[in-house]
Amino acid sequence: MRDQRYVEIFNLVKAYPNPFGEAVKVVDGFNLTIQKGEVIGVIGHSGCGKSTVLTMLAGLNDISDGGIIVDRREIDGPGPDRAVVFQSPCLLPWMTAYQNVMLGVRKCYPHASKQQRRVITEYSLSAVGLADSMHKHPRELSGGMQQRVGIARAIALKPKVLLLDEPFGRLDSLTRMELQDVILKILDREKITTMMITHDPDEAVFMCDRICMMTNGPRARVGEVMTIDFPRPRDREAILETDKFYAYRGRLLQFLDDCEAEKHGGGPIRFNPGASEEKQSATV
Ligand SMILES: Nc1ncnc2c1ncn2[C@@H]1O[C@H](COP(=O)(O)OP(=O)(O)O)[C@@H](O)[C@H]1O
Ligand SMILES: [Mg+2]
Repeated sequence: MRDQRYVEIFNLVKAYPNPFGEAVKVVDGFNLTIQKGEVIGVIGHSGCGKSTVLTMLAGLNDISDGGIIVDRREIDGPGPDRAVVFQSPCLLPWMTAYQNVMLGVRKCYPHASKQQRRVITEYSLSAVGLADSMHKHPRELSGGMQQRVGIARAIALKPKVLLLDEPFGRLDSLTRMELQDVILKILDREKITTMMITHDPDEAVFMCDRICMMTNGPRARVGEVMTIDFPRPRDREAILETDKFYAYRGRLLQFLDDCEAEKHGGGPIRFNPGASEEKQSATV
């Protein structure tokens, strides 16, 4: 039977000290459950607290109040069951792509044989399309290829939860589309439970099963959760031809617009002028 609450984030609070030493609740009362194998997107304005939630789920950021359960266990610090991919992969420059991935594999599978570790490392690098470049150093790889290494390093750990924090944020649009396809293929095959932060509504609709829209901070929380009802595997061209795609995207843009208007006291400021008009071309 499908576990309906594989990841459970309940009443999550994060307070950071401001310059005067007072605790300011950036996130306050964030609640979300994620099913096993589900791809959940998190969207919200810059600075609302998306990375704060993700790093708490990763165990890299202390939780001020509330809690997070992953597969029936409350998390307490980082672990290989939750792999993170940030905007920049932070590869060790003196190691090849293979060695960078192997570093994590060695830590994660201390009892595996050399041969088993080699298979896992090579499989992960092949899955992201780097079969021919795995023995190159980061300086010999483009930004997109380096990010592929970061993704390979994450999936090599066979995590229960994959955490992606704007993983394509630094890439040009063509490379971004390639990497969206790479990740979608992996997720379709491996069914990894995933949380992906993005500021791109098109990307969110194309990739996610549900999208969690966060209100503006401070005291940010889940404003709305929208289900994206497209079958998998997803076909970019087919999706872009549906009215549903534009309806989903329109709802996201409206939400973001409303948040922005609220911040500016209800003024007519738009998050992305004209973007909700159907004629504007999609970015996926
Ligand atoms: N370590 C920190 N100390 C103090 N304030 C922080 C810290 N990290 C983030 N913040 C603040 O918390 C808010 C949310 O940040 P973040 O989670 O990075 O937002 P997002 O990822 O949505 O852009 C921002 O106002 C940011 O300035
Ligand atoms: Mg962020």
